[in-house]
Amino acid sequence: MSKVPPIILNNGVEMPQLGFGVWQVPDDEAETAVATALQAGYRSIDTAAIYGNEKGTGKAIAASGLPREELFVTTKLWNANQGYDATLSAFDESLGKLGLDYVDLYLIHWPLPSKDTYVDTYKAFEKIYADGRAKAIGVSNFLPEHLDRLTGETSIIPAVNQIELHPHLQQHASREKHAELGIATEAWSPLGQGKGLLEVPAIVAIAQKHGRTPAQVVLRWHVQLGNVVIPKSVTPSRIAENIDVFGFELDPEDLGAISALNEDRRLGPNPAEFDVA
Ligand SMILES: NC(=O)c1ccc[n+]([C@@H]2O[C@H](COP(=O)([O-])OP(=O)(O)OC[C@H]3O[C@@H](n4cnc5c(N)ncnc54)[C@H](OP(=O)(O)O)[C@@H]3O)[C@@H](O)[C@H]2O)c1
Repeated sequence: MSKVPPIILNNGVEMPQLGFGVWQVPDDEAETAVATALQAGYRSIDTAAIYGNEKGTGKAIAASGLPREELFVTTKLWNANQGYDATLSAFDESLGKLGLDYVDLYLIHWPLPSKDTYVDTYKAFEKIYADGRAKAIGVSNFLPEHLDRLTGETSIIPAVNQIELHPHLQQHASREKHAELGIATEAWSPLGQGKGLLEVPAIVAIAQKHGRTPAQVVLRWHVQLGNVVIPKSVTPSRIAENIDVFGFELDPEDLGAISALNEDRRLGPNPAEFDVA
C-alpha cells in the first residue's frame, strides 16, 4: 500500500500527492529507477513523450506486478504534436510505448501561445478522456491567461496544471487561478533541481530543527501548501528519503521562513515565450 495520501481531482479521481519524476533519466536507466521507486512505495510516475523513457517506465510498471488500479501514470504530449489529429496519433504512440491501455493523467506539455494550437489540442484530449483512455486530462506550464482562454473555449476544466514551483518561484498568481477554477497545482522541479536551494541557510536550519534533510523540508512545504510534487532522483537513498515526508509537520514559523525565500526566479523557460517544437 502506498504511504502517500491522495488528493481528489476535480473529476473525483484520486491522485497521490507525491510521485516520481523521470525527466533526464535515459530509457535504459528508467526501468531501474522506476522499479526502485515502486519498491520504495511510490505509486505515481510522471513521464513525457519528450523524455524518451516511456518504454523503460512501462517495463518497470509491467515487471512490478502491481495491480494497474494502484498506479497513477502521467505522460505528456510533446509540442511538435499539437493539433487535433496529431495529438490523437501521439497519444496512441505514448500508450504503446508505456504498454498500457489507459493513462491516469495526460497533459499538454507547453501552451506554445505563438502557435495558437492548444485549444484544438485540448479538444483531442477531451475525446481521449471521453473514450476512457485517460482518467483525467490537464495541462502543464499554462499561465493564468492560457487557462482563461482554454476554459472559455472547451468543456472540461483541466484537472491539473503542472508548473515550475519551488521556494524560489512560489507562483502565487497561478495558484490563485487554480484555486478559482478548481485545478490541482502540480509542482515540477519541486527541489529546485537539487542545486543551490537545498543549501539555503533558512532551509538547512529548519531541517536541523526537525532532524530531517533539506529536501524533505522542501517537499513537506509543498505538501502543506497542497501541491502535488514529483521529485526526481536516480539515487536509491534519495528516492527513499523523498517519499518519507508524511511523518513530520512544519510549523507556522518554518512556513513563514520558506515563504520569505520567493524570488520569482525560474530555472526553466518562460511559458509565454517557449516555442521549441
Ligand atoms: N512539465 C514540465 O515542463 C517539466 C519540466 C521539468 C520537470 N518536470 C517533471 O518534474 C520532475 C522533477 O523535476 P526535476 O527533475 O527538474 O527536478 P527536482 O526533482 O527538483 O530535482 C532533481 C535533482 O535533485 C537531485 N535530488 C533529488 N533528491 C535529492 C535529495 N533528497 N537530496 C539532494 N539532491 C536530490 C537529483 O539528483 P539525482 O537524480 O542524481 O539523485 C536531481 O539532480 C521531473 O523529473 C519531471 O517529471 C516537468
